[in-house]
Amino acid sequence: MIETFALTAVAVAGLAAVFPLARQRLQLSMAKHPSLSGHSRMAQRVARQVPGYAYDEARFFNSDGAPAEWQARRRAGFLRLAGQLAARHPLSIEMTQRARPGISDLQFTGAYRVPYPYGPYLRQHLAVGAFVQRTDGVTVTDLDGQTFYDLTGSYGVNVFGHDFYKSCIAEGSARAAELGPILGSYHPAVAWNVEQLQGISGLDEISFHMSGTEAVMQAVRLARYHTKRKYLVRFTGAYHGWWEDVQPGPGNPLPPGHTYTLKEMDADTLRVLNQRRDIACVLVNPLQALHPNKAAPGDNSLLDSSRRAAADREAYSAWLQQLRAVCTARGIVLIFDEVFMGFRLAPGGAQEYFGVRADMVTYGKTLGGGLPVGVVCGKRELMKRYREDRPADICFARGTFNAHPYVMCAMQVFLERMHSEPVRALYANLDGIWNRRAEQLNLKLREAGVPVQVANLSTVWTVFYTEPSRYNWMLQFYLRAQGLALSWVGTGRMVFSLNYTQAEFDAVAQRFVAAAQAMQADGWWWQGAGQTNKAIRRNVLREMLGHRFQIGSQR
Ligand SMILES: Cc1ncc(COP(=O)(O)O)c(C=O)c1O
Repeated sequence: MIETFALTAVAVAGLAAVFPLARQRLQLSMAKHPSLSGHSRMAQRVARQVPGYAYDEARFFNSDGAPAEWQARRRAGFLRLAGQLAARHPLSIEMTQRARPGISDLQFTGAYRVPYPYGPYLRQHLAVGAFVQRTDGVTVTDLDGQTFYDLTGSYGVNVFGHDFYKSCIAEGSARAAELGPILGSYHPAVAWNVEQLQGISGLDEISFHMSGTEAVMQAVRLARYHTKRKYLVRFTGAYHGWWEDVQPGPGNPLPPGHTYTLKEMDADTLRVLNQRRDIACVLVNPLQALHPNKAAPGDNSLLDSSRRAAADREAYSAWLQQLRAVCTARGIVLIFDEVFMGFRLAPGGAQEYFGVRADMVTYGKTLGGGLPVGVVCGKRELMKRYREDRPADICFARGTFNAHPYVMCAMQVFLERMHSEPVRALYANLDGIWNRRAEQLNLKLREAGVPVQVANLSTVWTVFYTEPSRYNWMLQFYLRAQGLALSWVGTGRMVFSLNYTQAEFDAVAQRFVAAAQAMQADGWWWQGAGQTNKAIRRNVLREMLGHRFQIGSQR
């Protein structure tokens, strides 16, 4: 077996030395991340084979083989927690349960809140509410009048605090009211927004869309149209919306035909970009600086504690500079997808923060001042949707609601306020403040002796675990019981708005530590002899194969 493999490798290397095409193919393989997420088609095939199964009550509490006394603590803790949540949030939970059968999104997020074998037992016994009624400052209040510190970031939209967006929408709507929702002709706010966005992005032309996904799609389409090349390069783990070409692998019914998913921050990738002639564009999501080559830290995939994260601004800047150089040399369009990070890192976005200029930049989320939007900014020669010399060869893009007057006016208010003193002040020493806060929380967690730490890219935080465990995902429910609301990906991500004061942050930190201590006291972080992350993964795999085999034999 090993000999056959060695012979094949020698043969491939030999062929590669002689034939340029074989060499290119080898280079492409080398530039793929060794994980499954680096191999989308394989990941898709594997995903289709993963069997569905559910833990019964006993297994729910002892999936790591913890002794009976620890299981009893877990059971008691779980029932107490479920009881607390049910007693505190009856109205929110009741409405959620009534609405769930009719809301596909709710069913989807609910099903993937924890690793799936735990899901059915958990959902049967521990309910959480999805409905809320008001926001104030940095808090959100549910139907029962229970208030949470908001760490959801509203999918990243909430950069400046809820009140900021409420007033952008109110003032924007007042400005648009006389015109109403007329489409096709423009409200004057559009012209003003274009000038502002030209200044912020440093690019020539702007197009407006309804979502970040649409903006990315249009940027890639234009890059393909102008370069006359087919392939887009995206990096392992990076999210760019739910459109097919940027979602290879699981999640996408059809495999995209023209996407290369390559390793980020890696010389093998630069080699591919340097050699191939079929690459139209490279998509960069600057959020990945926090965890290059890894996907969003969803609790549903939290099988063990091996995940780590750490942002290195200098290293990522250096990487972007290398990308910039190779894209310029090879005529590849460099696209920064700032839909999530735009305006969060610096007033000039990731381009300013990392000191590198892109050929196209997409924005969305916060830029709409609280209303839905997607924006493409690009160099003039890339934004053009037709050719003077071939008038029938166009790159069509229109959308009914593009440049909607209410959205444009809310955006105008947003952009005006970007110049205001209070907003400018929020950016002062931003990284210094948030890095210090992350250190403060990490210190408190270490002092409390809990196996949890955080890493951050400015105000985007991720949670990781320092001892092997199968139960880390339980932390999200302890955090909820402490009045902390996290994003739907679960415990793994906290997104702060820039307006958190030190006192508000201290309250969050104190509650976070209390949640981890309660979880520890309830016995979820049992450390058995021989429990390593590798052993956990091996056991999970064995378990899956067992179920797959049974399913196969039952059919
Ligand atoms: C970097 C990035 N690009 C694109 C999108 C898609 O934006 P939307 O959800 O508005 O379609 C997102 C959404 O999270 C994103 O984070």
